[in-house]
Amino acid sequence: MEESRQLIMLPGPTNVPPKVMRAMIKPMINHRGPEFRELYEGILGNAKYVFQTKGDVVVLTSSGTGGVECAVTNVIQGARKIIVPVGGIFGQRLRETIAVMGGEPIEIPVDWKRAVTMDMIENVIKKEKDAKAVAVIYNETSTGSTIKCMREIGEFCNEHDLLFIVDAISILGGDSLPVDDWHVDICIAGSQKCLMSPPGLAILSISDKAWSTIEKAENIFYFNLKSYRKYKEEGQTPFTPAIPLYYALDEALKMIREEGLENVFFRHKVCAKAFYRAVEEMELVPFTEEEFRSNTVIAINNPPKVSDVSLREILRRKYKVVIAGGQGKLKGSIFRIGTMGKISRAEVMQTIGALNMTFRDLGYESKFDGSISAAKEVFEKETI
Ligand SMILES: Cc1ncc(COP(=O)(O)O)c(C=O)c1O
Repeated sequence: MEESRQLIMLPGPTNVPPKVMRAMIKPMINHRGPEFRELYEGILGNAKYVFQTKGDVVVLTSSGTGGVECAVTNVIQGARKIIVPVGGIFGQRLRETIAVMGGEPIEIPVDWKRAVTMDMIENVIKKEKDAKAVAVIYNETSTGSTIKCMREIGEFCNEHDLLFIVDAISILGGDSLPVDDWHVDICIAGSQKCLMSPPGLAILSISDKAWSTIEKAENIFYFNLKSYRKYKEEGQTPFTPAIPLYYALDEALKMIREEGLENVFFRHKVCAKAFYRAVEEMELVPFTEEEFRSNTVIAINNPPKVSDVSLREILRRKYKVVIAGGQGKLKGSIFRIGTMGKISRAEVMQTIGALNMTFRDLGYESKFDGSISAAKEVFEKETI
């Protein structure tokens, strides 16, 4: 494969800052020695800052799916019946994970252009009085929609003694998610999204309330959270960690802390706003209804007569910008752009320019000037 630099505008993996990449070439260390202890403790401290929690955090050598499986497996024996809104591919996967692990998922079907609302959750809970948890996808990566009532769901779960489990894989570190304040009991993040690290690590926060359910879990091996807690006392993980990825995550979390969480969120918000404004000027239509639009994944309907495959192929080959297509039933009808991690004015403007040129290549009249000016104006008003 030719080693060429591409602008990765996917909803994960995302562009990894050179400093984070370089961190991975440090010498190998003993994962049962003092150097790893220092590394792991540093990561956990900074991860707690990003999760905004005083609770526990663990890092698993696994992709995000492993993190979700870990959360579900560890609670399912104490919380079999779980309410799960499903409005996209990752909601479907979460529901399946609960079922495969022996639980009883109570699905709330959600329009894929929207996200679940508090009244939908309350209506289901009234009927399902023995439910023990609510599990949500905070940011549905397949549709570019974000749940806007997270605080309310968390408060409701807290008052009704339900666990609140949140797959925040494509949003943690990119938009507001104060885990303790919103009463999130288990929150799952992935290294390759807003945390601007390479793929391969899942990071979980765990509340005291979650631990009392996890205590009941038996017959779990690799993803046994009780083992992670025990080994953490020694500054270790139960099994060999992917040390280079821990180096990378350590550096990325330090960068986030240095920039400041609120600044990081604001940067994501402004970049997303610039994209939405440019899209509007280009007379393209975002897939998601306005009130649920994500700041980390922009989903756009393909314009009529434009082939989704050609669009992405020309963008990648000619302009070196990589974006994603639709998933599941949205395959071929939308394209998705990630605004995650190291995103800034430069990446946004380059992508908008490349999109316009690609549309022209495809014979579709593009609104080059208008869209560039609209995005530029957003950045000029909101300094980041
Ligand atoms: C919301 C959400 N959940 C779960 C996953 C699965 O993560 P991974 O592909 O790292 O296993 C993804 C990946 O895109 C995601 O966006």
